[in-house]
Amino acid sequence: MDPTGDTTAVAAGRQDTARGAPKGAAVPGAIRVRPGEPLAGELEIGGAKNSVLKLLAATTLAPGRFTLRRVPRIADVATMTELLASFGCRAWFSDRHVVQVEVPERLTPHASYELVSRMRASISVLGPLLARCGEATVALPGGDDFGARPIDMHLSALERLGVDVEVSHGYVQARAPRLKGGEVTLQWPSVGATENVMMAAVAADGRTVIENAAREPEIADLAAFLNRMGAEVLGAGSPTITINGGGPLAPVDHAPIPDRIETAVFLAAVGIAGGEVTLRGAQPGHLRMLCDKLGEMDLRTSTVKGGMWAMAPHRLRAAEIVTLPYPGIATDYQPLLVAMLSLAEGVGLVTENVFANRFRYVGELLRMGADIRVEGRCAIVRGRERLSGAPVRATDIRAGAALVVAGLGAAGETIVRGTHHISRGHDDLVGKLQSLGADVDWVPEG
Ligand code: UD1
Repeated sequence: MDPTGDTTAVAAGRQDTARGAPKGAAVPGAIRVRPGEPLAGELEIGGAKNSVLKLLAATTLAPGRFTLRRVPRIADVATMTELLASFGCRAWFSDRHVVQVEVPERLTPHASYELVSRMRASISVLGPLLARCGEATVALPGGDDFGARPIDMHLSALERLGVDVEVSHGYVQARAPRLKGGEVTLQWPSVGATENVMMAAVAADGRTVIENAAREPEIADLAAFLNRMGAEVLGAGSPTITINGGGPLAPVDHAPIPDRIETAVFLAAVGIAGGEVTLRGAQPGHLRMLCDKLGEMDLRTSTVKGGMWAMAPHRLRAAEIVTLPYPGIATDYQPLLVAMLSLAEGVGLVTENVFANRFRYVGELLRMGADIRVEGRCAIVRGRERLSGAPVRATDIRAGAALVVAGLGAAGETIVRGTHHISRGHDDLVGKLQSLGADVDWVPEG
């Protein structure tokens, strides 16, 4: 049972988006950060948001009862389950981190603009709905803080499986009474496009081959989930994925991989505040390139039984960082790395190769006294000994977390507003930082 006793909370979208917020605080409150002692202690890393959302979408592939474990209590999970509810599914937390999804025999394959515009990952219902219903209408997600974010690769790849796609009035209308396997070569190893094709291809007649597929660990997790359901997905985690489609699929019980981005948040926190922490459940193998780079910056990490250990004995050193598709350094780590470089010794250079406009949050770090110059896809970061606490605003999920950890290295008080962005993707960031001894709390937004 959900400790709150509210078993419908997820599907109804009434999940508390600011868990840990003082009762009765103005919704959802701001986060106050003050510098303090070096961090110490251990905490548990949750399931990966970017996996869980796709696994929830994939449940629509078969009728019956699915169980997902280690699910983070975040607003994006509530949005995805609202979307599932709009198709006719029922989803609820049966335990603190366990979600049950009941998928009916008949679905309504329509994803509204209201829900899709709240969360871009909603586009990942397109593939599984087509597979299950032979048709789907999904609102176009539009752009966001990283730039235009088109879905052209999703659509052209699905066309290779015999899908008839029409885009009009802000909606994608896709039809494929009979999906057939095909050869798909992606122009870029898009995570979302790879996932949509995988989820459609499991129901297609014959073999689908995806070339230049994304290799992120979340792709391998989705493949493991689909295979457990009875699908045949081979090669996930490599650039060539083969799907032998058309077999029967059944509901499963699955625990997603740990969240490598949440892991990176606490690595950044210890890098900035100093100290020594253990991250239980973290999977260092998924963060290899990041850990190599952090090592260059003098943040030590190592694998320990059941997780990962990290220590920052002294001030970080600057480095040159380039974001790339996996196994490169993920674009989602980029704001955290810029925050770390703002406080490191020397001049750092960050090149963002995945999203055209992912430096929009830098203005907020400048308000905290950071010395950063952005030129196109590059940021030149001159490290300062100390930042200066200031009121700032989160512009997206990861930038929000980066501002909070930057506050650990800022004299005085940093008040981070716009925390609904943080609550979309970070489960109890405040409580987890507190458990390491950080001086962080919720305050009324004011
Ligand atoms: C996913 C992750 C996001 C991460 C990103 C890259 C989720 C919910 N989100 O997003 O956190 O930052 O992978 O690792 O899992 N592109 C096109 N056309 C397309 C698709 C993508 O031009 O049809 C471009 C994008 O604009 C971007 C690049 O390809 O420049 C990478 O995007 P993609 O890998 O598809 O990211 P997402 O799946 O949206």
